[in-house]
Amino acid sequence: MSLRKLVAGNWKMNGRMAQLEEALAVAAANPDPAAELLLCPPATLIAAMSQALTGSSVAVGGQDCHAAEAGAHTGDISAGMLADAGASHVILGHSERRADHRETDADVAAKTRAAWAAGLVAIVCVGETEVQRDAGKTLAVIGAQLAGSLPEGATGANTVIAYEPVWAIGTGRTPTGEQIAQVHAFLRQNAPDATIRLLYGGSVNPGNASDIFAIDNVDGALVGGASLKARDFNAIIAAANGT
Ligand code: PGA
Repeated sequence: MSLRKLVAGNWKMNGRMAQLEEALAVAAANPDPAAELLLCPPATLIAAMSQALTGSSVAVGGQDCHAAEAGAHTGDISAGMLADAGASHVILGHSERRADHRETDADVAAKTRAAWAAGLVAIVCVGETEVQRDAGKTLAVIGAQLAGSLPEGATGANTVIAYEPVWAIGTGRTPTGEQIAQVHAFLRQNAPDATIRLLYGGSVNPGNASDIFAIDNVDGALVGGASLKARDFNAIIAAANGT
């Protein structure tokens, strides 16, 4: 089955109001894209970006949410607040959250339930470290992350899975096509619903995007650094539109 590709940009802790220009340039270049498009700016920009992109082909998402709806959680943001600000998606369990904030699979599962309850699509991230890959544990690690992070009830309508090898994030290194194909075949077998899209993430750029999108069971990309500039992100979107 061929699923509509999703090209998602993760701005991480980058971007001020002035960078909304980049988001507008992505929308302007893609009035009717074959692929679905998403930008996930820092929380401070979600409302303004959503307003700026109203009626465009580019949706807006968050990069994390709290598992609770509201309450005494200083500094945190709930899934309902993201939705209220105009987000339709939220990235959950990114390896930087797992590393910097010690998020566990159980935390990610609880956040995923919260995202669904707020009507958001959860983009649940999994991926092995270099040490784990070298020890031959890649599929075991990813299988455990998937089982622990994805609650019952995941469908193509409420969930996207992103495979992001930790060692490929922000490093300019990418797995071979065979390595990506192997993990994505494994994810396809183990995803609870055949319509859940499987994104690859980790150093995707205009130069490697076409090759990555051509790999079996790659239904899109989660793009970090190359999503900050419209020119690069648009080139990646063009590669997705062409597959
Ligand atoms: P990168 O980040 O494209 O800068 O490697 C990807 C990600 O962490 O989502």
